[in-house]
Amino acid sequence: MSCLNCIPLHSERFTIFASLIHHDVISCIVFGRPSQHNRQTHIRTTMASIARSARAPLRSASSLTLSSSLARPSARASRLQVHPTLQLAQQPVRFKSGPYGYTQAKALVYSKTGEPADVLSVHTHSISPSLPPNTVLLRTLASPINPADINTVQGTYGVKPEYSSLLGTPEPSAVPGSEACFEVVNVGSNVKTLKPGDWALPAAPGLGTWRTHMLVDDADTALVGIAKEKLEGLTPAAAATSTVNPCTAWQMLRGFVDLVELSVRAGNGKGAWFIQNGANSGVGRAAIQLGKLWGLRSINVVRARDTPEATAALKAELAELGATVVVTEDELQERGFSSGKLRSAEIMQGESDKESPLLLALNCVGGRPALSVAKCLSEGGRMVTYGAMAKQPLTIPAGMLIFKDLTFHGFWFSRWGKVDPAARKQTVEAVLDLMRTGKFKPGPADTIPWTWETPAETLQKAVGGTLEGFRSGKGIFVFKDT
Ligand SMILES: NC(=O)c1ccc[n+]([C@@H]2O[C@H](COP(=O)([O-])OP(=O)(O)OC[C@H]3O[C@@H](n4cnc5c(N)ncnc54)[C@H](OP(=O)(O)O)[C@@H]3O)[C@@H](O)[C@H]2O)c1
Repeated sequence: MSCLNCIPLHSERFTIFASLIHHDVISCIVFGRPSQHNRQTHIRTTMASIARSARAPLRSASSLTLSSSLARPSARASRLQVHPTLQLAQQPVRFKSGPYGYTQAKALVYSKTGEPADVLSVHTHSISPSLPPNTVLLRTLASPINPADINTVQGTYGVKPEYSSLLGTPEPSAVPGSEACFEVVNVGSNVKTLKPGDWALPAAPGLGTWRTHMLVDDADTALVGIAKEKLEGLTPAAAATSTVNPCTAWQMLRGFVDLVELSVRAGNGKGAWFIQNGANSGVGRAAIQLGKLWGLRSINVVRARDTPEATAALKAELAELGATVVVTEDELQERGFSSGKLRSAEIMQGESDKESPLLLALNCVGGRPALSVAKCLSEGGRMVTYGAMAKQPLTIPAGMLIFKDLTFHGFWFSRWGKVDPAARKQTVEAVLDLMRTGKFKPGPADTIPWTWETPAETLQKAVGGTLEGFRSGKGIFVFKDT
């Protein structure tokens, strides 16, 4: 039995999902604990609402009878079969999002972990126009494909997917995607911070953003709003990539070593140094720009491209962004291993370790590239690992701990943001301000248009290809006519 439409209707105590099946029979799933008393009343209301939404006559709604299984109280979701005399008109009309009528939506979903091309599928469902008081209806404008999203689908990330039946998929499913820029379509009566036409960003990962539309509960806390009067200078793709990578770079540059203070104390006006690998990543590019804005100097390690010309072009691009020095992993291994060589004019401008210690390293990659970066640190330096793109363990020689007194940390923005959500929101807003004024540029994008007609295979392929080879930019779904 295929589920063509699934329409959620919420009350304070429970949610009813009503499905239009085979064009004419409606089944319901009730989540929560409706009381015996109001169960049938609410289901009748649901049916009538569906009929209104679908602009279709609902036959004998008032004489709706429910099978005996409906009468049983349910602590968990229970499947309820409504009397088959309920019929909706069989017209394949599609209503777009709006305060009137229901919204047809599509989402990438998965019901088990694995390679994205194998486990992702597209699910179509409908969203009711009746919004609970704290809920907003959103239309997605852009949503990036971050490595963490792929790792979550693969089942190798720090949080495991939570599968649910809320979208009416044949098996409980999850929607991937952690970042997005949404347009607010409609708001519930209690929502205070958002209005139709504003943009909204997830305040924390976990919403599941690879979908055309969605309802978000507790909208005032779950979303960071951008008032429609303050959209100038922002694009959906830029806003959609503002909530994780730039904020991660921001906190890593400020939270472990006080480089700004160090620069001031040095008194030479040259700025303290930091070093990072994966410098061409979203986080790396953000660190370059923020470092430059804060008067810091950066040594940026990248993977060499296929040709010297392509490598030179990448180096020039990062220098343009604000990188002080850009070297390839091979160049760093050749020259960086000896502290004297690292401090040569070419890399650290001939400055001595005492004059300009290198106290912070950001590690996106792991394996040998991480070790060669750690070897460059001055005594007492700190390495912050935030990614593992090489999928190789970080092996640390004992001497680094004993003789150089290096400290190795991990950083996970999700955890940091959970501990201090107000600071997370402030960081996002500060990044948006920098974007508006042109002081912070989003990384290059490899946009994947998503329209109502885009075939599922195109979306699956776009996700699957994201971590392969050198890319011209971050994969970003940009939603057109949905
Ligand atoms: N801990 C946190 O809170 C946090 C937050 C955000 C991101 N991250 C992590 O940071 C990493 C980068 O994320 P992003 O969104 O910034 O990435 P991104 O923009 O999608 O770029 C991926 C980067 O990884 C590099 N890369 C891919 N495979 C590699 C390999 N085998 N060896 C070395 N480099 C490789 C690419 O290098 P090329 O430029 O040479 O192609 C590219 O620069 C990911 O591991 C992500 O999970 C962590």
